[in-house]
Amino acid sequence: MKFLAVCLPLSAQLSSADSLSLPSKQIIVQVVVAVAVHFLLPVPWLLPSSAFPSIDNSSPAALPPCCTPPPPPPLHRSSSGLLSSLQQMARNSDGDLEEYSTELYQEAAFDAFMCPLTKQVMQDPVTIETGQTFEHEAILKWFRECRDNGRKPTCPLTQRELRSTDITPSIALRNVIDEWRARNDEKELEKACSALSLHHESAEDETLRALTYISQICQRSGAKKNLVRDQGIIPVLADMLKSSSRRVRLKSLQVLRAVVEDNDQNKEELGKGDTVRTIIKFLSNEHIQERELAVSLLYELSEYEPVCERIGAVYGAILLLVGMGSSKSENMMAVDKAEKTLKNLEKYDTNIKQMAENGRLQPLLTKLLQGGPEVQVTMAEYLGELALANDVKVVVAEQVGALLVSIIKTGGLPAREATLKALREMSSNESSAKILLQAGILPPLVKDLFSVGASSHFPMRLKEVSATILANLVASGASFRSIPLDNAGRQTLLSEDVVHSLLHLISNTGPAVECKLLNVLVGLTSSPDTTPDVVSAIKSSGATISLIQFLEAAHREIRVESLKLLRNVSPYMGAELGDALGGHLSSLLRVISDGGGGGVTEEQAAAVGLLGDLPEGDSKLTRQLFELGAFGTLSSKLAELRRGAIRGNRYTTPLTDGMVKVMYRLTCALKDAPEYVEFAREAALAPLFVELIQVNGQDTVQLYSALALEKLSLETRNRTAIPEPPPPAASGLLSCACLFGSTSSTAAAAARQAGVCRVHGGFCSLRETFCLAEGGLGGKAVERLVACLDHLNPEVVEAALAALSTLVGDGVDAAEGVVVLGEAEGLRPVVDILVENRTEALRRRAVWVVERILRVEDIAKEVAADQTVASALVEAYRNGDPRTRHTAERALRHLDRIPNFSSAFHAQARRP
Ligand SMILES: *[C@@H]1O[C@H](CO)[C@@H](O)[C@H](O)[C@H]1NC(C)=O
Ligand SMILES: *[C@@H]1O[C@H](CO)[C@@H](O)[C@H](O)[C@H]1NC(C)=O
Ligand SMILES: *[C@@H]1O[C@H](CO)[C@@H](O)[C@H](O)[C@H]1NC(C)=O
Ligand SMILES: *[C@@H]1O[C@H](CO)[C@@H](O)[C@H](O)[C@H]1NC(C)=O
Repeated sequence: MKFLAVCLPLSAQLSSADSLSLPSKQIIVQVVVAVAVHFLLPVPWLLPSSAFPSIDNSSPAALPPCCTPPPPPPLHRSSSGLLSSLQQMARNSDGDLEEYSTELYQEAAFDAFMCPLTKQVMQDPVTIETGQTFEHEAILKWFRECRDNGRKPTCPLTQRELRSTDITPSIALRNVIDEWRARNDEKELEKACSALSLHHESAEDETLRALTYISQICQRSGAKKNLVRDQGIIPVLADMLKSSSRRVRLKSLQVLRAVVEDNDQNKEELGKGDTVRTIIKFLSNEHIQERELAVSLLYELSEYEPVCERIGAVYGAILLLVGMGSSKSENMMAVDKAEKTLKNLEKYDTNIKQMAENGRLQPLLTKLLQGGPEVQVTMAEYLGELALANDVKVVVAEQVGALLVSIIKTGGLPAREATLKALREMSSNESSAKILLQAGILPPLVKDLFSVGASSHFPMRLKEVSATILANLVASGASFRSIPLDNAGRQTLLSEDVVHSLLHLISNTGPAVECKLLNVLVGLTSSPDTTPDVVSAIKSSGATISLIQFLEAAHREIRVESLKLLRNVSPYMGAELGDALGGHLSSLLRVISDGGGGGVTEEQAAAVGLLGDLPEGDSKLTRQLFELGAFGTLSSKLAELRRGAIRGNRYTTPLTDGMVKVMYRLTCALKDAPEYVEFAREAALAPLFVELIQVNGQDTVQLYSALALEKLSLETRNRTAIPEPPPPAASGLLSCACLFGSTSSTAAAAARQAGVCRVHGGFCSLRETFCLAEGGLGGKAVERLVACLDHLNPEVVEAALAALSTLVGDGVDAAEGVVVLGEAEGLRPVVDILVENRTEALRRRAVWVVERILRVEDIAKEVAADQTVASALVEAYRNGDPRTRHTAERALRHLDRIPNFSSAFHAQARRP
């Protein structure tokens, strides 16, 4: 019986109210009557109007302007006529009323609940001297205004002057009002709830009204939120999120947020079941407002810790939040809420891990830095499982590198294991590797690696990780000579002892570690700065043989790494390697010729690379290779590559380079054995090399092809068959060996008709006699070599010039050679090389060829006019080495720049 509940305390108060002032008593009586009427006799006209404070009929108008009533009361539907006129006027003057929605569920308020000033149900009723009751705030404001206007305080209703502005809280009335509210709220919540439960898509307005009501009631007081929960409305609201109406969904998100705000039990309630997932789905909604409201609601939920775990457990939730938090297109509010939600989610380690996986690494790093030992291990483990982007590795190394290093120095085994894995990932970028080196990673790492025996408690799987890290560090190209391994700073990674230990470890461990340690040595021998140290340690430890053994290893990676290592050290110990390799050549060749059907393999390229780098002067090795058929295999493979029969990939270039180098080795040994020459002829090596010299080719291929052509061309005069009647070629018959054009001499034409080579005076061809002038390729040989004279790489230019020199050198008809050069428009480039003066070696060669060219009188005359050539020769004459000076001097004499002294004088002068 609510009536009794309300009335009993009131009656009690009344009966013991002798001390109360008259107005208070009056109010209580009014209230009791009003309540009684409301519950028992809800008939307005039964109430005597005198029971209520009388109101001047004109009071609204009479009120000073400062007291203009605020918007009409939200909850009021007057049941008695006393204030209704006032109300009515207020309504009329203000036009629109409070939201229609709330009216529906409201039970009538009593006039006694109304403040005459605000026309609203009072929150904090107080009574003044006259016994009238007002809203606390409002009457204080009234008094203030009276004072400000220089008037005595008056009663707003009676206009009577007041003796004092004392006010008395009207506790009883307040309680009644509260009770009235509570009852109303409960009733209306029930109605709202049933409206929602019966929710029909068609009755959208009804639903929205109910939702609005719930939201308002929640905003009114925290206690109402419990009421909402007790009424079982939360699951109903959660269900609304799945409505097909966007308006309903938006409203539901809003209402839910109000419902759970500052109320953990409601959060708990909403966090149950599938609702969290439903809310998270909104984050990927294309409608911006739904996303915003959803993230706000989610943030609200995340303020309650247990829900954080459930949010993180929803697949994709953290990714969506991270995306939203770092979005540039989302509005500020949503970004902010997403950020704050993530911040709340950080309370759970698993969430931190997910964030890291989704690119939000900072929480993990912070926790790693600040957490206790156990947390650190967990975080290090997470870190070790992540695949980090390059720039992130650097950031991570900067922040936690030193910490991780200290863990591997002193931590327990689980901590070290987790940490090593993280370091493996971070060390794989050269920038972050250098940061780790600075943090002092090297000494503990090497110590762990070299630790032996059961006492070390360092399992093999961790040695592999350590070896990988070491390989990464070495690949960073840091200067290891300056990084000490011990406190005294005596030892570095390049110290002989340390390299010995490495070599020893390589031979006494499993394949995985072997491979990584070989990789370490490959790294250390990649720079000419550090290679000598490693080489001398290899020599002093006698490890060459065991390193070569790895060429036969079962694991391909090991074979590749050892090939790379041997290749790196070959410039320093070529002869030794050549000797030691003997027995393994056939397996190397097998690797090269087998090659996977799917294109060039790394191993092929590495094997050829090693062979190509062994010193070409090692005739024993050449002989072995020849006998194993290496040159045949390689030349046919080169031809295949040329034809495009082998699919190209990133190993094609090193493979081609290596093969050309190996083939060049044979041309260096032509003098040694007629069978080499015979092979070169049969395998058509000269045309092959001419083919390999091409515009835009690889430098190494051009370089070694030109070098090989030089060697082959030197053989021509020994191979050409001189016809019985010697050809009448003579320089005197040259009609015009034009420097800047190409004209063929009649004599040469005649000679060619007879099938005899102008330059070599015999029957020549590129294929049979390696004659560059009589190219079977339509003179392409000279043309292509001339094209190389413009090459950017001076080494290529030099090699091309050397090959062309064979046509104007001793033992051939040099004058005809000049003609051939002229026909290929090769004279000007040679002169340009001289004038350009790029390197000393090039100048020497250019001076030599120019001198040969100037022996042709017509050309000398023409060139004499060109001051730059003469100046370049003078320069060479003044600054060159002794041989160049002599050659330059001779050339200048051809130009008549130096008087032709008697030959006797010259003979004397030249004698040393
Ligand atoms: C290493 O990281 C830096 C900085 O992000 C980057 O510039 C560099 O390319 C990375 N190196 C490699 C080999 O990826
Ligand atoms: C030509 O052959 C002779 C002997 O046959 C040899 O002495 C000479 O070195 C050879 N010339 C060249 C350039 O190989
Ligand atoms: C030519 O090159 C050499 C060495 O490269 C240099 O000493 C000399 O001064 C150069 N001469 C001219 C004229 O540039
Ligand atoms: C220099 O004089 C000698 C004889 O004295 C002669 O054979 C030679 O052709 C002359 N050289 C030049 C470049 O005139």
